[in-house]
Amino acid sequence: MDNAKLIEELNKMLAQEHACAIRYATHAACVSGPYAEAVKARLKEISGDEVLHAEQLRDRIVTLGGNPTMAVSEKDLKPASKLDEILAINIQEEKEAIAAYTKILETISVENVILHRTIEDIIRDEQEHLEELENLQP
Ligand SMILES: [Fe+2]
Ligand SMILES: [Fe+2]
Repeated sequence: MDNAKLIEELNKMLAQEHACAIRYATHAACVSGPYAEAVKARLKEISGDEVLHAEQLRDRIVTLGGNPTMAVSEKDLKPASKLDEILAINIQEEKEAIAAYTKILETISVENVILHRTIEDIIRDEQEHLEELENLQP
């Protein structure tokens, strides 16, 4: 993947991370039901992880000579307030994020250590999110 294409792909993921941070924070505020308090706390923490992913992507984009987008991927903003809906939406979103990052990772040389490791670290976080959300399912 050439540099311009890589910057474009990372900016797409950055717009998605912006949406994920907003979505988790909003779901945390709206969630109701028997486990609401525990789930609320966890969704807030995940929202914070997505903010950090956006930060990491911005640094990599600038290092590559690009301009970090401020766009928000609207297709990833999915309102919900019921626990089962929230879990289903976010499990699907995490799976899509893992697939998209894995595709990008395959195009990055391992010699490009910082970028390679950054994407790997983000994928590990998204896999942890996915596992936790699956474990919250009744
Ligand atoms: Fe993320
Ligand atoms: Fe995530």
